Amino acid sequence: MEIRNELLSKFPVLLLQWNRKSNTRKMPWKGEKDPYKIWLSEIILQQTRVDQGLKYYEKFVFHFPTIYKLAAARTDKVYKLWEGLGYYSRCSNLIETARFISKKLDGKFPNKFENILALKGVGHYTASAIASFAYNLPYAVVDGNVFRILSRVFGIKIPTDSTKGKKLFIRLAFDLLDKKHPGVYNQALMDFGAVICKPYPLCNSCPLKNYCFAFNNDQVDKLPVKEKKISIKTRWFNYLLIGHNGKIYIRKRMTNDIWKNLNEFPYIETEKDVPVKKILSKAENTELLSKKSYSIQSVSSIYSQQLSHQKILGRFIRIELKKEIVPAGYKPVTIKQMFRLAFPRIITSYFEKNPL
Ligand code: ADE
Repeated sequence: MEIRNELLSKFPVLLLQWNRKSNTRKMPWKGEKDPYKIWLSEIILQQTRVDQGLKYYEKFVFHFPTIYKLAAARTDKVYKLWEGLGYYSRCSNLIETARFISKKLDGKFPNKFENILALKGVGHYTASAIASFAYNLPYAVVDGNVFRILSRVFGIKIPTDSTKGKKLFIRLAFDLLDKKHPGVYNQALMDFGAVICKPYPLCNSCPLKNYCFAFNNDQVDKLPVKEKKISIKTRWFNYLLIGHNGKIYIRKRMTNDIWKNLNEFPYIETEKDVPVKKILSKAENTELLSKKSYSIQSVSSIYSQQLSHQKILGRFIRIELKKEIVPAGYKPVTIKQMFRLAFPRIITSYFEKNPL
């Protein structure tokens, strides 16, 4: 217990010292005080690496310098700017929250933790980040980086995804927080997780190595512990790019499983790779196509996209209709209109390789 108590007081001191002397990480939202921009950066960075999130943050700040601008934007435009970033419910929540704050709160971002947490799309981690960065309120951020750092340094083997584990890490993170400088401390902790205590860490450069349980007990690759293994499901999407007179048929995807609100083409989903002939007869049976009324222009190679819990494999079959028969539920758009809308990554990568 003695050692742990010593470490409880050493940890923030050593972390902040590292931050002052050795942390050279620069990011445009660092030191930012505008809660709108902090919120925007944190929503973008949920489940996204900083190097990927950066250009999206810059694009969003450029197009929507204020929350009013974001609130007033067309939904499709915001989705188009979000295209490729994934986890599209974040985009939907972003729009909803911007409109809520601009209409119902006179554009004033909430400044109390509970009210920040009540915003759609804002969880405990994001609320703590906003509260500490924008208002210097004493809330500790706890995310995957923090689980990794604390489980290693303190030698905690309780699974981070268990209720007991979450409680314990939240408590410990709060005990360690520098209550006078929560913003600087939280950002330092995130940077430390990204630069030093990474999944494959740089232990030799670590200011905490003499105190770190994992380093001193050869457990660096064993911590943190997770209870649940994620299982990955494979799905096959056989897309039909049906064209007629320079137009192509699309619809907005409304299902709740993946890619809600993005656009898509008619497709036949299968559990495995199925020959094109069979796909076409399925399309005829489900009235996406009618027999002998079309010709096949090309069949693509296999494209793939890895999501967090699913692997999507797909191919694209280009079809030209001999006469216009609109597949039910779809609408014709010109190619120019199509490129103004947001599509899943698997589709945009196909068009990057096979321009229309
Ligand atoms: N990940 C989430 N928020 C972050 C931030 N403010 N800085 C760096 N990485 C982050």
